[in-house]
Amino acid sequence: MRIETLSVFPDVFASYLGASMMGRAQTKGLLDFEAYDLRDWTHDRHRTVDDAPFGGGQGMLMKPAPIFEAVRDISARHELRPHVIFFSPVGARFDEAAARRLSHEDRILFVCGRYEGMDERCYDLADETLSIGDYVLTGGELAAMVVTDAVVRLIPGVLGDEMSAEDESFAGGLLEYAQYTRPAVYEGRAVPDVLLSGDHAAVDAWRRRNQIERTALWRPDLLEGADLTPEERAWLAERGD
Ligand code: ADE
Repeated sequence: MRIETLSVFPDVFASYLGASMMGRAQTKGLLDFEAYDLRDWTHDRHRTVDDAPFGGGQGMLMKPAPIFEAVRDISARHELRPHVIFFSPVGARFDEAAARRLSHEDRILFVCGRYEGMDERCYDLADETLSIGDYVLTGGELAAMVVTDAVVRLIPGVLGDEMSAEDESFAGGLLEYAQYTRPAVYEGRAVPDVLLSGDHAAVDAWRRRNQIERTALWRPDLLEGADLTPEERAWLAERGD
């Protein structure tokens, strides 16, 4: 997969994306990452990317011209046109389902805004606009890194253990089951007996029930859309969740 970013702070991506899983994905040739500097598409001496809003008001807006020119120019640099994603608190909420969908793209271009926002016409370039949550960031760079991390780890071969992305939170619409390692008792806190039993069927059954219980406790909003059997739904109803 090829991931590109367009922003006025192209240097902020390097340390995180060079480390750990992201670094390995690039070394293995599974991820090709490039950060472009929006100022490279300005034409004035000050490399200006912002301007005051029509109608007045606080702050500055990103001008349309550098963004339009950059997105068109970058898009044409490879045969395959990128899937263009903008970031804004106004966008659709990014979640694991979106991460799975995006993990099938071959080329993504993230456009990261700064200042008080962008000239509204810029969004005409977007295939989609995403928000990573109901809070306001000072720029889209962190959002681009969050989405990149969540997407890249789903590319086959990126995680060491192929199973690990299937078992975890939000797979099947449920939270992940609780996990424990040694010691079996720590400061009086014991690991559930069944996990020490060596009975794999019993462990699987416990884990499934634990996923449902944890979801009911912490994220009851997920239950409606979760992948549950009629028996599991009946069991939940009996418990009063
Ligand atoms: N830019 C500013 N706030 C944002 C958010 N919550 N998600 C995505 N992009 C943003």
